[in-house]
This record gives sequence, C-alpha cells and structure tokens, in this order.
Amino acid sequence: MASTADPLQTTRDLLDRPATLRHGFLDVLGKSVVSETPTLAQRAMNSPLVATVYERVWRPVAFYVASGVTTGAEQSRAAEALALSGAHRLLDIACGPGNFTGQLARRLPDDGLAVGLDISVPMLTRAVLDNSGSRTCYVRGDAGTLPFGDETFDAVCCFGALYLMPEPFLVAHEMVRVLRPGGRVAILTSYAGQPAPVRKAMNAGARVIGLQMFERHAFTELFTSSGLVDVQQQTQRSLQFVTAAKPG
Ligand SMILES: C[S@@+](CC[C@H](N)C(=O)[O-])C[C@H]1O[C@@H](n2cnc3c(N)ncnc32)[C@H](O)[C@@H]1O
Repeated sequence: MASTADPLQTTRDLLDRPATLRHGFLDVLGKSVVSETPTLAQRAMNSPLVATVYERVWRPVAFYVASGVTTGAEQSRAAEALALSGAHRLLDIACGPGNFTGQLARRLPDDGLAVGLDISVPMLTRAVLDNSGSRTCYVRGDAGTLPFGDETFDAVCCFGALYLMPEPFLVAHEMVRVLRPGGRVAILTSYAGQPAPVRKAMNAGARVIGLQMFERHAFTELFTSSGLVDVQQQTQRSLQFVTAAKPG
C-alpha cells in the first residue's frame, strides 16, 4: 500500500478544531495559558535544554533505573501490545521529543500514520527535528481534552507522562474515547508497590517535584469499568505497563 500522502493534511483532517502550523507541528492551543502554577516536573518538560537531552540521556537512564527495562525493549513491547502491524492510526499522547512516535511509526503498515501529541513547544520542536518521517505528524494539544473525535485511532498510548498531569484519570478516559472498537491502548506510568516505609518516602519525594505515584489497580480498574477487555498489567520496580482492548 502507498504511504500516507501528506501526514500534516491527514492529521489536520482528523482534528476537531482549527490548528496553526508552527515549527512543523500543528498547534491547537496557541497562546492559551496551560498552567498558571506549573510544577517542577512540568517546568522541566518545557525547558529547551531538557528537550534536547531527553531522548539520548534523560529518558534511557531514568527509565532504566525506574524499571530495569531498556528503551529498545520498551519500544518492542509497546509495538506488540498495540498490535501496530495491523493498525493504521496511532496516537502517542505526551509524546515528548517523539522518541516513541518515530520508532512506533516504523512498525505501522506503509499507509499508517502516527500522531504525536504534546503540550510543550520545546519538546515538539525537537520531535519535528529528530523524529519526523513520512508516517508521522505532531500536534500541540492538551491530553485532558484531546482534539479528536470519538473512535479516531486504532491504537492509543501514553508513556511516562500520566504521573505529571493534573487529571490523569480524565486523560485515561480521553484515551478510551478516541479509540476505535477493536483498537488497543497502552500506558506506562508510576507504580506505588513498594513496602510501606519506602513507598511513603517515594510518595513524598514525588510530590515535591510534582509527580503522582499510582496504586496497582488505578488504571486496570478504570479500563475495565470503561468497558475495555483483555486488561493486562506488568509492574517493574516503580513503573507499571498496562494494556487493554476495546471490544470490536
Ligand atoms: C517524560 S515526557 C514523556 C515522553 C515520552 N512519552 C516518553 O515516554 O519518553 C512527558 C511529556 O508529557 C507532556 N505533558 C505533560 N502534561 C501534558 C498535557 N496535559 N498534555 C499533553 N502533554 C503533556 C510533557 O510536555 C512531556 O513532553
């Protein structure tokens, strides 16, 4: 099959609101204030310096320490869990510098499209520079109010980000809303599964920088009660990977 003719135009057609083209990505937020009082973690994600070192240094080191899983293994696990070889449209929420969007786009069929959505201009600017291709497009938007209609994507993921969002459960519901029947979701987020004293210290430390630690059942129950099936979970140190499918 032919590759997606124009990923920018195809993505624009999928959006449910107007967008302006900015530094190579589509922006549905413009100058609207996203948070008046950003946390330390949110400020870091808006720093051009962090955006520059994130993919090659910050991400591989921090996530390996947190889970014992390498980035390459994470990418393969994600592609399999999302059944990408049979998917046409992937939405990567909180895509950062496109470090998963670009890799996962390669696992889609030739006519597939991977849309990376993030709120940070520096992260998206890097995504366009470092992880663009004929099957990718980037959008600046808020994960809490996804700018897409219901049942738009065959696969929806959100890695390494729910714990720094003010309303993570709303975002998870948004993921389910934009997922097509028969499609699959995958998330990677924090896991508060340590023994009580360690866990208390980790929760306190996380709160200081603006991160949330989630209980084992927080997302498995949300997905189940939203009607998803085949809900599976892996926990590794302080991270959990959860996948599920929308009945076809
Ligand atoms: C740690 S990075 C994760 C990047 C990538 N998904 C990964 O796994 O490495 C977290 C990203 O979440 C984004 N983010 C935070 N709040 C957001 C929101 N409300 N909507 C969209 N993106 C958001 C940040 O801008 C940042 O790029």
